[in-house]
Amino acid sequence: MKEIYKNPAYSPEERTKDLLSRMTLEEKIGQMCQIDGRENPEFWINERHIGSFLHVRGKEAQRLQDIASKTRLGIPIIFGIDAIHGHGFYSGATVFPSQLGVASSWNPDILKEMAAITAKEVILTGLHWTFSPVICLGRDARWGRVDETFGEDPYLAGILAAAMVKGYQGEKLSDPYSILACAKHYVAHGETVGGRDSTECDIAERKVRSTFLPPFKTAADAGCATFMTAYHAIDGLPCTANKVLLRDILKDEWNLSGFIVTDWDNVGHMHRLQKAAPDMKTSAELAIKAGNDMMMSTPEFYESAIELVKEGTIKEELIDEACRRILETKFRLGLFDHKRNTDFTKARSIIGCAEHKRAAFESALQSIVLLKNENGTLPVSDKVRKIAVIGPNAHDVEAQLGDWTFGPRYYPEKPMLEYNDYDITSVVTILDGIKKRAGDRVEVVYDKGCDMFDESKENIEGAVKLAQQSDMVIAVVGDTVLLNGEVRDRSSLDLTGAQQKLLEALKNTGKPLAVVLINGKPLTVPWIKDNADSIIEAWNPGMEGGNAVAAVLFGDHNPCGKITISFPRNVGQQPVYYNQYPGWHGPARYIDVDPEPLFSFGYGLSYTSYDYSNLKLSTKEIGIDGEIIVSIDVTNTGSIRGTEIVQLYINDIYSSVTTPIKELKGFSRITLNPGETKNVQIKLPVSQLSLIDRQLNRVVEPGEFEIMVGSSSRDCDLIKDIVKVV
Ligand code: BGC
Repeated sequence: MKEIYKNPAYSPEERTKDLLSRMTLEEKIGQMCQIDGRENPEFWINERHIGSFLHVRGKEAQRLQDIASKTRLGIPIIFGIDAIHGHGFYSGATVFPSQLGVASSWNPDILKEMAAITAKEVILTGLHWTFSPVICLGRDARWGRVDETFGEDPYLAGILAAAMVKGYQGEKLSDPYSILACAKHYVAHGETVGGRDSTECDIAERKVRSTFLPPFKTAADAGCATFMTAYHAIDGLPCTANKVLLRDILKDEWNLSGFIVTDWDNVGHMHRLQKAAPDMKTSAELAIKAGNDMMMSTPEFYESAIELVKEGTIKEELIDEACRRILETKFRLGLFDHKRNTDFTKARSIIGCAEHKRAAFESALQSIVLLKNENGTLPVSDKVRKIAVIGPNAHDVEAQLGDWTFGPRYYPEKPMLEYNDYDITSVVTILDGIKKRAGDRVEVVYDKGCDMFDESKENIEGAVKLAQQSDMVIAVVGDTVLLNGEVRDRSSLDLTGAQQKLLEALKNTGKPLAVVLINGKPLTVPWIKDNADSIIEAWNPGMEGGNAVAAVLFGDHNPCGKITISFPRNVGQQPVYYNQYPGWHGPARYIDVDPEPLFSFGYGLSYTSYDYSNLKLSTKEIGIDGEIIVSIDVTNTGSIRGTEIVQLYINDIYSSVTTPIKELKGFSRITLNPGETKNVQIKLPVSQLSLIDRQLNRVVEPGEFEIMVGSSSRDCDLIKDIVKVV
């Protein structure tokens, strides 16, 4: 008779129990290992009973799965990949805007769709798990990985992350196109001192619980199957060794049903870099006891863990618990029933298909933020007959696609995807998009103008000549992949190379100047704010970015994005997030810089204008279990249809602990025809007015709360009222 674990009639739990009872200690610990699948995979399958590989692509996944199926127990391998804004390491796959880009849409539906498409493309290539969404908060733009985040706000990050989780995982893991999501990096990665990746976070547990855990909790509530432990230490304790975070909160309090994976070699880091363990064995012990189930890329873990169990330092039950979680997840995904094998025939017709590209285009449209528009510069007027497109990012595939597409550049010996292997013809650059949209009626001339890095490599004179012969200039500047991402923290956020010089020279021509920013993070660009006629923030807009930017430039699409991260005026103003705490001495704040950010969280213009009026609260006094309906009238006062993102902020006026001066607690996207007024109602459960008290409990403290509604986080854009909680 067929063994129980091989019989799909039994539940994942029953099958796991049966399988576990047949496994040796070595086989169980093998399941807890995840290794880069490009390194001696046969050895890892046959001699180490590996549970998971990452970074495997193409036909290799199927080959390795076939080898695994012939081992003693035939346990399938789970393959993980960083498909964080599309299956970006797979040439020809659909590449969406970066997470920070799509966050500007404030549209959970578009993030869900993006994730569902990514899942489909990933699964068809034989992989099952993406290390996404990134739920770190991007609060210090010096940090290299800001482009991977949803920006600076915990509430918005939670909602958008949950949407991605639902898109990746579908209704249930056994759905044919579901893959596992992975909420990372747990927790407060990005908050390390000075924006220095993976070092030390100087934050107390109360702050962790107030600001950084909530978006992860929202992802957990959405059913996110896996979580990734962050590299850094909080108050001296590496997250990898933090039992309270992993076991007590994530597993016990939030009931994680899947498993926890470490980040890349966290176990090694604790010993080698963080010096928190004198040897690898101690490091492995700390990681297991704290609750990590799978160790990414620490080959030494295998031997260390076996020794730890044999000598009695680690109880075998802890190994069983980790292994059980991994196996149950494999059963839920249908891996044992061969439901997830590579299907290249289907893949060819689905990956990067027209429907997926349309979604990439739509998400890029909604990501674009209009930061300035004066003198009727945009949309491009009918009178314009010749446009000079100038700048290093006008025709640069890498800058446009952003991080996690070609692969981590700091491993030049094993790139994920060579530039030359990439089907760059599938990418519509900004220049391509403008040319296509301009058609025969408008002549488009182009010059790169300067290099992103080497200041001496420039053709400013040539670019200026083109500008002088044109009716307007579209300057496309920003940053590029080599200035963003892991191990790419920056101490300056200024434009690099001769970009600033180039812009100044273009301005001097006196031609209308529209600046398009292609960048992974906020840059310190006060000169552009003061001198450009129009500014479009397009982030890393993905493969359809050129078409989307052109649609905005020419007015086919009315921009509606709002930035989800504040732009500093200079790097010393960091951190400049909107949800600051009160109490900074003196009205001048820093004496040498305007206290407001260059552009504030929630800000973004449109080709039309909106008026907010008639703020009403359903009640002026409410109990702690209640719900307030906040209502406001929004009118489109311009002459074209547009979509507006209405934002709701709160402030706890007096509280037992200091609380942020403003906190986003709701939003609504509405579309209005010219002259139309809509009444927008946003539900605000009183539980959203809670804080973490000194005893680490989440409580709502009775008292007065300010309710603020408007078009951005700036005071001048908000209408306010007060509600009393009794
Ligand atoms: C990154 C993770 C990523 C992992 C696997 C790590 O260095 O921090 O975000 O998922 O590598 O590529």
